[in-house]
Amino acid sequence: MANESGATSALPMRGVPQPAREAVLSLPDVHISQHPVIQHKLTALRDRRTAVPDFYRLVRELGTLLAYEATADLATHEVIIETPIEPTRARRLTGAVGVVPILRAGLGLAEGFRQVLPDAQVWHLGLRRDEHTLEPIEYYNQLARATNLQVCFSVDPMLATGGSAIDALNTLKRYRVPHLRYVGLIAAPYGLQKLREAHPDVPVYLGALDERLNDQGFICPGLGDAGDRQFGTL
Ligand code: PRP
Repeated sequence: MANESGATSALPMRGVPQPAREAVLSLPDVHISQHPVIQHKLTALRDRRTAVPDFYRLVRELGTLLAYEATADLATHEVIIETPIEPTRARRLTGAVGVVPILRAGLGLAEGFRQVLPDAQVWHLGLRRDEHTLEPIEYYNQLARATNLQVCFSVDPMLATGGSAIDALNTLKRYRVPHLRYVGLIAAPYGLQKLREAHPDVPVYLGALDERLNDQGFICPGLGDAGDRQFGTL
């Protein structure tokens, strides 16, 4: 049965069948990167031998690369500027960009976004997954002032059951944060399908789509726990 967050209590870990990877690949408005540099860095990130400092650096770098892909169609407007040589017509981004890292694993991705968009507004959203129910619990947000944005990216490395992403987007919509997009590193087919069903208006940008969830709700093959591996709390 669906709960308030849009997540379900009927989860794959409790016997619900999971969609095949191929079945969700063609869902509308899902952008799975084919960029070789992103694939190369994801491989290093997945490797169990990758140490905490390198893991955090890689998440930041992947955030930068995914930001580049997820901003490819942003609106710009014409301005007149003066180069050292002469006046010219040029283009600037129209309106502010917001980035919402889902704490805490989204922090590294948000740092990566800021390498591309240093003026971006960062609106932290604290969600954690209850270890027993796997339902997201909100513990921090300051979203009331996150308005007047051209676009707002909800960023979180892992889309597992989809509960956290769905809940984050529910919260952002409740605060009327406009023009939402979701950016993640790795998704399970189940979570991606649930996210598309709950928020069909929100485009999704991913580094990779993996195979399945295991009995503990971890993405397989995945990369383990993105929060713990970024912050050394293994
Ligand atoms: C992880 C991850 C997502 C969520 C994904 O966070 O960063 O936020 O789980 O799972 P879901 O799709 O099933 O909701 P976690 O709750 O471990 O918190 P952390 O970021 O503090 O490590």
